[in-house]
Amino acid sequence: MLSPIDIKNKKKKGEKVSMITSYDYAFAQMAEAAGIDQILVGDSLANTMLGYKKTSDIGMNEMLIFVAAVCRGAPNTHVVADMPYLSDKDPQTAYDNARRFMDLGASSIKLEGTPEGVIEFLRSHDIPVCAHHGLLPQTAENFKQKGRTEEEAAAIIKAAKFTDELGCFEMVLEHIPEELGTKITQVVDAVTIGIGGGKFTDGQVLVMHDALGMHLGKNPPFAPKFVDMFSLGVEGFKKYIESVQNSAQ
Ligand code: KIV
Repeated sequence: MLSPIDIKNKKKKGEKVSMITSYDYAFAQMAEAAGIDQILVGDSLANTMLGYKKTSDIGMNEMLIFVAAVCRGAPNTHVVADMPYLSDKDPQTAYDNARRFMDLGASSIKLEGTPEGVIEFLRSHDIPVCAHHGLLPQTAENFKQKGRTEEEAAAIIKAAKFTDELGCFEMVLEHIPEELGTKITQVVDAVTIGIGGGKFTDGQVLVMHDALGMHLGKNPPFAPKFVDMFSLGVEGFKKYIESVQNSAQ
């Protein structure tokens, strides 16, 4: 299993880091068998697995079930547990919740933005932290690309540098212009993981349901689809129904 130091060493050696979201035992086994570097149990599971409208609709009790399942399915892979909305609202609450994830087998936690005093407190208790900048789905008013104006880009760079200085080993950069993703990658020690952050980040993350074509909706413009599992699943179910109908009574 890659430790935060191994992941930072990949950046030093110029090796790309692959991260994918997974949410359950079966798909975690699949991701581990494929050799993924890191699995993110993202709060996107609110949408992809539970059909909620917003990622902020999910809480700790639900996240714990999915993090535990992924850790059981991928015991040899670095699992990043996403802190759901308000689970990091103050340093002590964040630490207690992060500890629950780590006790289940997570290797690190991810949180959005720079909640006051939280990253400092987590790092002082040796919790490895992956930051998240750019589009922050838990609090975003819309899903448009962030960092297009000089002012917005400067604020994102400032936040990225701040979390780098606080000792985050990694940061997700979501839906920002490629030049901004490249610039941040050059100025921080932390490993940058892009999702709509251009080609030049240290690694990439995708939501599994987008990458494997597991939903009926349209992928975001920056998310490629590598297989069409929705169609494969429907085909498999149809064959099964046919076999039931054709079986001798
Ligand atoms: O929850 C999630 O899946 C994420 C990714 C979009 C990075 O935060």
